[in-house]
Amino acid sequence: MLKAAVLTISDKGSQGLREDKSGPAVSAFLQENGYDVVYTTIIPDEKEEISAKFTELIRQNIPLIVSTGGTGFSKRDVTPEALEAVCQRMIPGFGEAMRIASSQITDRAWLSRACAGICDNSVLIALPGSPKAAVENLTAVVSPLKHGLEILLGIDSECAVPEHHEHH
Ligand code: MTE
Repeated sequence: MLKAAVLTISDKGSQGLREDKSGPAVSAFLQENGYDVVYTTIIPDEKEEISAKFTELIRQNIPLIVSTGGTGFSKRDVTPEALEAVCQRMIPGFGEAMRIASSQITDRAWLSRACAGICDNSVLIALPGSPKAAVENLTAVVSPLKHGLEILLGIDSECAVPEHHEHH
């Protein structure tokens, strides 16, 4: 079972002014999908603080680091910038997949700057803030994510398409 960490990015949540429903929703979804959520925290919308937390978890070789919140247009929304600052390689397809899938649900999906990247042995994904949006966005990438992590960690080097996906 691969380890995962979940970061809730919220000024209000970090001050105890708002109950965090998104972190638990993301954690539950990850557990249902076979990840072992070993760490959760709530931090304010401060770019340096978010990057520092990402870096701390990357150093612990946590394979999957997921954040929720701070991807929108508010002036305090800086999670994508904090993620990019620590990543060696971005995964543009994850942002594309999350927005395309989410746009079937609401056209406000296009306001999300949700993104993903790779640093060392970790994949980082920044999801939007509401529990609904976070889980909907993660659903869009959870299947390819598994294969990507297997390749990153050297568990599977074969990119062969599974039997049932083949067209004859
Ligand atoms: N994506 C999905 N799938 N479902 C949603 O309800 N909400 C959107 C968008 N993405 C939404 C979604 C809205 S209203 C906003 S403002 C952006 O995500 C950014 O959210 P954030 O600022 O909480 O990160």
